[in-house]
Amino acid sequence: MIVTIVGTGYVGLVTGACLASHGHTVRCVEVSEERLRSIAAGKVPFYEPGLEDLLRAGQASGRFSVTADLSGAMQASDVSLIAVGTPARGEDPDLSYLETAARQIGGQLRACAGYHTVVVKSTVVPGTTRNLVCQTLEGASGLKPGEFGLSMNPEFLREGSAVRDFMEPDRIVIGQADSRSGDVVEALYGGFHCEKLRVSLEEAELTKYASNALLSVLISFSNELASLCEATPGTDVETVLGCLYLDRRLSPDGPEARIHPEILSYLRAGIGFGGSCLPKDVNALRVYGKRCGVATPMLDAVVTTNALRPAQVVGMAEAALGGVFQKTIALLGLAFKAGTDDLRSSPALSILQALGSRGARVRAYDPCVTPEAAKKAGLNGLCRESLESALSNADAVVVTTADPAFRDADWTRLTAQMRTPVVIDGRNVLRHVRLPEMARYYPIGCGGAIH
Ligand code: UGA
Repeated sequence: MIVTIVGTGYVGLVTGACLASHGHTVRCVEVSEERLRSIAAGKVPFYEPGLEDLLRAGQASGRFSVTADLSGAMQASDVSLIAVGTPARGEDPDLSYLETAARQIGGQLRACAGYHTVVVKSTVVPGTTRNLVCQTLEGASGLKPGEFGLSMNPEFLREGSAVRDFMEPDRIVIGQADSRSGDVVEALYGGFHCEKLRVSLEEAELTKYASNALLSVLISFSNELASLCEATPGTDVETVLGCLYLDRRLSPDGPEARIHPEILSYLRAGIGFGGSCLPKDVNALRVYGKRCGVATPMLDAVVTTNALRPAQVVGMAEAALGGVFQKTIALLGLAFKAGTDDLRSSPALSILQALGSRGARVRAYDPCVTPEAAKKAGLNGLCRESLESALSNADAVVVTTADPAFRDADWTRLTAQMRTPVVIDGRNVLRHVRLPEMARYYPIGCGGAIH
């Protein structure tokens, strides 16, 4: 098929490169000249493992290209995907990029060679595709529903493993305005072998939010349990969760051994969830509930629990050091999780801010965050180039992402360079690392120091 994609952010570019590798001809439309030039030169403007190789392979095969010309891209194409951002703006998601994309696509619909299907991949609350998008398309094209196809097809990509998530999907959810639209989207994913669910537009929209809300609830449950363990001497959240997970309803019998579903390895107590998706989507669902007159006390509690975690970690540092005022603290990890340079709603930044406001001297190291990215986020001068320089003469270190580089480091050497070898492990990444005897190790979710 010939595919137009509007938006070259995470979703747009990953989708484009992956669909091209499946034999489709993809044209991504980008208005920013700088971004367009970067992508055209085979350079992904953000950090995502494996994406650049795939993009370049697509370009080399002639199946992937980027252009500023929406009309040219759409004329020959069968389907247009809207993959623009819907960032939070106050209480509501900002739908202006979506509306603009729908208007521009609508303006080109009549010029398309044949029946054209518009697919919303952006995350939007139920009703947005049927109302805002469809009406905008109709208004701009003068066509009636049915004269063009309309679908909502949510993405379930995780930063850091987005290419794999796209190539090996758990499921493909196809929200369809009518079955003809659904057929087009199903054909687009013809080469992907997983269950494809044909649902209403609203069910597709809600599934996306529900999926992130479920993860947030589960993470917050683990974190609340961690807080309870931290207040209970002789308990360890890892042990309690381990016991819990052996319930056969969570880990059923397999042919040879118990099956441990991936969600149980994903779920770890920590410093709270962040990123551009979970916090924004939980909030959007709460606001949507309010608009529908539906109370969402559980989602409200998730937000409260999540906001408590960074403070809990700061409290651990204060207790371990007898106050953090004028103490030098090294933060290992700035991004919202390991394997990405994304600083949006990063809990590490909340910890950094809280420590700073208590008079601590904070420095940070994150192997994925370049000095330029840190500078852009206003963190200039705070980042160190290596673990060694971050930890040198520090009074404590706080681990805030589960980067394998932290686990694999030589902690005997590192702690020897610290003024006081206090290690606060906000991600329990050093649990199985042998630390020197003199180190004081405080993992998350433990009633007391381990070493
Ligand atoms: C999340 C979802 O996992 C994807 O399925 C979804 O497609 C994506 O949002 C999206 O909406 O686009 P992502 O934001 O990349 O993906 O990150 P996750 O790996 O889910 O982690 C989110 C946050 O939760 C991170 O801050 C992470 O450190 C934290 N987390 C995760 C925990 O604190 N504990 C855990 O047990 C798991």
